[in-house]
Amino acid sequence: MGDLTLPFTHWAHQKLTDNNCTSCHPSGIGKIENWGKEAAHALCVSCHQRREKGPVQCEECHKVSVSRGLRETVPTPR
Ligand code: HEC
Ligand code: HEC
Ligand code: HEC
Repeated sequence: MGDLTLPFTHWAHQKLTDNNCTSCHPSGIGKIENWGKEAAHALCVSCHQRREKGPVQCEECHKVSVSRGLRETVPTPR
């Protein structure tokens, strides 16, 4: 899996969604289309809000200061 600039527990999230891959991969398994800030925030933050679980504050996801441009790459855990 590609490296995100922040930690994301893919396996834990698979289980959280009962392995419903399409909830995050609507157009098929693999790279998510137009992946980036907008797509990520729409996907990640909206679900955390909906479920009232999971981080919704910037710094909860971006452990590295946002002002530093989030350039520090953390390999995505599997
Ligand atoms: C639920 C987790 C989460 C929250 C909360 C969150 N983000 Fe993000 N953000 C992401 C993800 C995932 C990406 C895509 C990064 C990637 O693909 O490496 C991203 C990308 C970004 C980027 C672009 C980074 C780059 O290097 O391209 C910026 C800037 C950013 N977020 C700022 C913010 C700010 C400001 C807030 C608060 C208003 C915020 N984020 C809240 C998860 C989150
Ligand atoms: C909670 C959201 C979420 C769920 C559920 C999810 N994924 Fe992912 N997955 C992601 C994110 C985010 C990425 C990294 C996005 C990117 O790099 O385009 C990713 C990346 C991947 C990649 C690597 C793509 C690449 O080429 O780098 C594969 C393969 C993958 N997921 C398969 C699956 C399968 C199979 C399931 C269901 C069992 C699943 N995913 C469920 C969010 C999710
Ligand atoms: C389908 C709903 C859903 C989506 C989409 C989703 N999450 Fe979550 N996430 C959750 C839930 C629910 C929790 C709380 C899990 C718990 O507390 O047991 C959580 C917890 C987390 C946590 C804290 C616990 C951990 O596993 O590290 C992080 C960080 C996180 N999510 C990041 C992300 C990022 C980044 C994305 C987008 C790539 C994302 N989430 C997309 C539902 C989702």
